[in-house]
Amino acid sequence: MAFPSLPLLVLLVAASSATAISVQQNFIQCLDANSDHPIPISAICSQTNSSFTSLLNSTAQNLRYLSPAVPKPEFIFVPLYESHVQAAVICAQKLAFHLRFRSGGHDYEGLSYASEIETPFILLDLGKLRSVNVDIDDNSAWVQAGATVGEVYYRISEKSKAHGFPAGLCSSLGIGGHITGGAYGSMMRKYGLGADNVLDARIVDVNGKILDRASMGEDLFWAIRGGGGASFGIILAWKIKLVPVPETVTVFTVLKTLEQGATKTLYRWQQVADKLVEDLFIRVMIQVTKAGQKGERTITTSYNALFLGDAETLLRVMNESFPELGLTRKDCIETSWIKSVLYIAGFPSETPPEVLLQGKSLFKNYFKAKSDFVQQPIPETGLEGLWERLLKEDSPLMIWNPYGGMMANISESEIPFPHRKGNLFKIQYVTSWYDGSDEDKIKHMDWIRGLYDYMSAYVPTSPRAAYVNYRDLDLGMNRNKSGSLAEASAWGDRYFKGNFRRLVQVKSKADPDNFFRHEQSIPVVLEQGQG
Ligand SMILES: Cc1cc2nc3c(=O)[nH]c(=O)nc-3n(C[C@H](O)[C@H](O)[C@H](O)COP(=O)(O)OP(=O)(O)OC[C@H]3O[C@@H](n4cnc5c(N)ncnc54)[C@H](O)[C@@H]3O)c2cc1C
Ligand SMILES: *[C@@H]1O[C@H](CO)[C@@H](O)[C@H](O)[C@H]1NC(C)=O
Ligand SMILES: *[C@@H]1O[C@H](CO)[C@@H](O)[C@H](O)[C@H]1NC(C)=O
Ligand SMILES: *[C@@H]1O[C@H](CO)[C@@H](O)[C@H](O)[C@H]1NC(C)=O
Ligand SMILES: *[C@@H]1O[C@H](CO)[C@@H](O)[C@H](O)[C@H]1NC(C)=O
Ligand SMILES: *[C@@H]1O[C@H](CO)[C@@H](O)[C@H](O)[C@H]1NC(C)=O
Repeated sequence: MAFPSLPLLVLLVAASSATAISVQQNFIQCLDANSDHPIPISAICSQTNSSFTSLLNSTAQNLRYLSPAVPKPEFIFVPLYESHVQAAVICAQKLAFHLRFRSGGHDYEGLSYASEIETPFILLDLGKLRSVNVDIDDNSAWVQAGATVGEVYYRISEKSKAHGFPAGLCSSLGIGGHITGGAYGSMMRKYGLGADNVLDARIVDVNGKILDRASMGEDLFWAIRGGGGASFGIILAWKIKLVPVPETVTVFTVLKTLEQGATKTLYRWQQVADKLVEDLFIRVMIQVTKAGQKGERTITTSYNALFLGDAETLLRVMNESFPELGLTRKDCIETSWIKSVLYIAGFPSETPPEVLLQGKSLFKNYFKAKSDFVQQPIPETGLEGLWERLLKEDSPLMIWNPYGGMMANISESEIPFPHRKGNLFKIQYVTSWYDGSDEDKIKHMDWIRGLYDYMSAYVPTSPRAAYVNYRDLDLGMNRNKSGSLAEASAWGDRYFKGNFRRLVQVKSKADPDNFFRHEQSIPVVLEQGQG
């Protein structure tokens, strides 16, 4: 099947350097020879193609990793069949190319489409493998990696108003990468994470073989559900377990500024949020806003919630458990589960659920984020210090996400995601900006690192836990192809706690030559001893 590619190659020879072309030509020939399905010309997009930038940009969520200084893939391969993915893995090894792969492009450090340590590299974009097959009678769905969580939610709701799935809040996340790190959302207190609700998976392993749960074995199946993306193989599809949702759910958002007693209410929230009934999820988004006639900057806390039940029951629960918030009937919106997804994701009211099928993100910016897990309420004086720091930054955001409920009932080693019992809530710190200059970047990065230092007084520090899906390269990086266990423990212990060692064992067996690697992939430890 080499012939269809030839006219393309002839065209390109004129436009690009000979090496880039021969790399690409060899790769296409190898793909053709190793795939059950031919490789159409349109599946390859080279740097000289006028669509290259828009394809690369299409799902890249962090503009920091699109800046001209960041190395770009030699070309992008968009597989149309599972066998194309198999061929890509075989050929990348045969021809010694580094491979990055992308589902939804939301990696915080751009690792799915950019590589600062391994060049040249090829990008495998799974965006066209996005079918969702819902089987209501079986309470399950097979979802291909390139589908967004919004598409998954929509396809479930299309078949049944009584079923849902407990994954992320932001509708444009790729289900492929998202579940590899855990995948929490507004039903986590009742049903746990997306990764807690996976029944089976299809992956392409390092030999280019397709494995399912039975053929990969329980160790590898354990590792891919929370052990972080791109260390063990390429997920083609997940089989997910659907969960029951009521016909009517209730959402609300209640704001409190500093002037309205935000500090006291937030102190109270810390004491109750993880102990509320599991049907209730109240997260807090903390931002700097302008208030008053002179438009002075203040802190606004928004309590953004989903309740799996009607408004009347919710009001009773709140009156009993968290009356300090002052929730009233007119704050409550009764709606369907699928519309609650749109509400929580931040779409304007009245947006039809079909918008989810577009799989587009609502915003893009330059950003840096970090995370913490809190086990003791932060005292009011600590909160006041936080406000001071937030007020010094242009567009800071913190999201406090309650734990407890089902999250506390699942053991730390059930899957690699270890942040369970004992956690009151998780904090995500974010700063975002719209100017691509280095000066701006340095200023914002310094600010968020300073904030993180300040917070070390209020969270457990051995290790200081972090969420792998909020990837943070400040925690450390593999410096070369082999990496080292000691170096990788710097982030591995934080993301996975006691599960890190088991992940290293699984990795060493599944991918001993470390083909699936990136700046924070799980390292290989060979038997005779290194590390
Ligand atoms: C705006 C925004 C909102 C978010 N909201 C939430 C939230 O509500 N809940 C939550 O838990 N997380 C949330 N996240 C974090 C999100 O879960 C992670 O960024 C996740 O990795 C995204 O998956 P992706 O497929 O979109 O990303 P990608 O960038 O495509 O991939 C992320 C990582 O996984 C690897 N990967 C991608 N596809 C595959 C595959 N098929 N097989 C194996 N590895 C793969 C990539 O190489 C990369 O290392 C949010 C992120 C953003 C930017
Ligand atoms: C350029 O890329 C687009 C989209 O990726 C593809 O459809 C098209 O065939 C490519 N053109 C050439 C000349 O390769
Ligand atoms: C892609 O993103 C970069 C960085 O933001 C920008 O400079 C470029 O114009 C974008 N290109 C397209 C085609 O969207
Ligand atoms: C709230 O609870 C108190 C007792 O704790 C009760 O007296 C009051 O009637 C309740 N209000 C509502 C609206 O349920
Ligand atoms: C968690 O465990 C507690 C105690 O066994 C139980 O009461 C509660 O219903 C469980 N929650 C969930 C969501 O399973
Ligand atoms: C790779 O990096 C590790 C840690 O910095 C170092 O110990 C090791 O020697 C390096 N290996 C190679 C091949 O450079």
